[in-house]
Amino acid sequence: MARSSMGNDLLTTTRAFRRRLDLTRPVARQDLLDCLDVAVHAPSGTNRQPWRFLVVEDPDIKQRIADYYRKGFSAYLSARTPRPDQLGDLASGRYLAAHLPEVPALVVVCSLGRPPADATALHLASFYGSIYPAVWNFMLALHDHGLGSTMTTAHLLYEREIADLLGIPFDQVTQVAMLPVAHLLPGTTAQGPRRTPAADVTMWNKWGEQ
Ligand SMILES: Cc1cc2nc3c(=O)[nH]c(=O)nc-3n(C[C@H](O)[C@H](O)[C@H](O)COP(=O)(O)O)c2cc1C
Repeated sequence: MARSSMGNDLLTTTRAFRRRLDLTRPVARQDLLDCLDVAVHAPSGTNRQPWRFLVVEDPDIKQRIADYYRKGFSAYLSARTPRPDQLGDLASGRYLAAHLPEVPALVVVCSLGRPPADATALHLASFYGSIYPAVWNFMLALHDHGLGSTMTTAHLLYEREIADLLGIPFDQVTQVAMLPVAHLLPGTTAQGPRRTPAADVTMWNKWGEQ
């Protein structure tokens, strides 16, 4: 099959970077803006472009967000028994939780609006589907710039507290993810993430027919 000229390597080697983040090297605002400029090319329902990005560099504010993140991450861990193949990811998740305040920039991704409490599948698909493509575009652009991140959501257990901390109007704006951004340590190799091949998860014409 002809390969697309689009960066398949970038698409297949962008992954969750945690231990490979360089916690000692600052990230330039211009680099972040360049990557956010790629993020905003993502699609959104009726092109409403609901994204807003709040970049936290202030050490005290990062520390307070990290405190909420750690509590959220512990709650997440205590609610489940990991499969053996998840232990490595969880160890790296613990590393990130412990070092979050040292990551140079925490990018809090917000979406204008809030899904109603009785949201239908259509509401939810439209709401979250109009913001996560921008998050992924951002992660791809970061990797292309030699920066790395991980999509994180554990802090959202404390979304209201973090909204108060950051001055986000909770009723009008939903936080959807936080991207801790740093340069990648020298020597970080382009390993693709482990994934089940598409043929194993694709059905044709009817559910169950592979
Ligand atoms: C919606 C979503 C929420 C996530 N939340 C967290 C999180 O709170 N903390 C974390 O360390 N990783 C989080 N992750 C990262 C996943 O653990 C990671 O994408 C997955 O293990 C695949 O990693 P890989 O691409 O390096 O293989 C999240 C990913 C997604 C898509």
